Amino acid sequence: MKKLIHPITIMMVVVTLILSLPILLPKKEDKIYSNNVLRQQALSTNMLPIPQDYNTLLRIMDNPENPMSQAKIALGKQLFFDRVLSRDKTQNCASCHKLEEGGDDNLPTAIGYHGLANPFHLNSPTVLNAALAKSQFWDGRAKDVEEQAGGPIQASFEMNMTPKEVEERLKTLPLYVDKFQEVFGEAISFENVRKAIGAYERTLLTRGDYDRFLEGDNNAISAKAKRGMALFISKGCKGCHTGMSVGGQSVQRFPLRSYFSEYVGLMFSPDLQIRRDGFPFENIGGFKGREDRHYFRVPILRNVSKTAPYFHNGAVKELGEAVRIMSKYQIGNEFTPKQIEEVVAFLETLDGELVGYTIED
Ligand code: HEC
Ligand code: HEC
Repeated sequence: MKKLIHPITIMMVVVTLILSLPILLPKKEDKIYSNNVLRQQALSTNMLPIPQDYNTLLRIMDNPENPMSQAKIALGKQLFFDRVLSRDKTQNCASCHKLEEGGDDNLPTAIGYHGLANPFHLNSPTVLNAALAKSQFWDGRAKDVEEQAGGPIQASFEMNMTPKEVEERLKTLPLYVDKFQEVFGEAISFENVRKAIGAYERTLLTRGDYDRFLEGDNNAISAKAKRGMALFISKGCKGCHTGMSVGGQSVQRFPLRSYFSEYVGLMFSPDLQIRRDGFPFENIGGFKGREDRHYFRVPILRNVSKTAPYFHNGAVKELGEAVRIMSKYQIGNEFTPKQIEEVVAFLETLDGELVGYTIED
């Protein structure tokens, strides 16, 4: 006797199959990214590796208004670490930009001359790879590292010197008198101090796992970091954090998006300061960016895992929290905790070591 399968049984099997599809099919985020596709996406949007040799460095970094040379770089390095550039001889550039610790000071805000804090509670940005940026400072007010270097020497709360005092002080040191003559063919001037420091800063580039991945080593970064990198590209982070330095190429509004619910929430916030300022990120220091319009120079994300705390006022301690804020306010697509972890894993691949270019002049 023929046994027929009951139609209800068939239906039940079909329904069970349909319901279990999401479990049977690979989850979207478990998708295996093709290394080549990911690499091509990055390279084609200008996320490029840092050069390994001095000649390529020169091609990318040289400034026609301040040509780099071995002697100039060496002079700049000496000045970068020399405390004579500060009034009480206690501060050098490395006081706030420690090259071995991510190129910053790991403080919420910079502390300079006589223990004075930055009056706007500004966080020291990294000096590593900064020369790759299209403008310098949190509001992008200096065009390059040469122009920037004059700022901290003169700021009353940083090194607190006048250009004349710098020149007079260096002229009493025979070593500098000779070196400036050799490098610039002229006597010591404040302009040449800035230029020498700038030439040195142009060599402060770092390379790490991310660069090795971009150059073709598929095992240089983990699968998790690759998922984070894919998110960083596809969700639009790279729209602002781009270029060889992964940032520093433009001045952008922050926060880009605001939410009605956020403002309603703010009105009832238990934090009086937040209720008064109406905006959760500027209640420290009161710095509102370029022309007070919430425009900030996009930070460089190379070595970001070593440059906590984050944002212009150092208000955020955790990298994951900075990523969450960015996803919510800059791309309008708040990441899940898993996505945040993946993006953080990617950002950690941006850590690197100073290249230490073998300088052949
Ligand atoms: C007291 C701490 C302190 C000292 C000393 C100091 N800086 Fe800074 N540096 C900062 C702070 C804070 C900022 C951000 C200021 C701003 O945006 O207005 C900054 C910004 C920079 C930037 C801009 C980076 C970017 O991505 O925008 C560079 C480059 C830099 N400093 C180099 C130097 C050099 C060179 C010296 C020595 C001549 C120096 N700094 C001395 C605290 C310091
Ligand atoms: C529209 C431009 C824009 C987009 C898109 C954007 N950012 Fe940013 N990002 C900024 C600006 C501007 C700041 C600095 C804000 C400040 O300090 O007040 C910043 C700061 C950061 C910081 C803190 C860095 C530091 O040193 O303080 C991290 C980390 C970061 N962004 C990661 C991301 C990630 C991840 C994404 C994608 C989810 C993203 N950003 C998307 C413009 C952008």
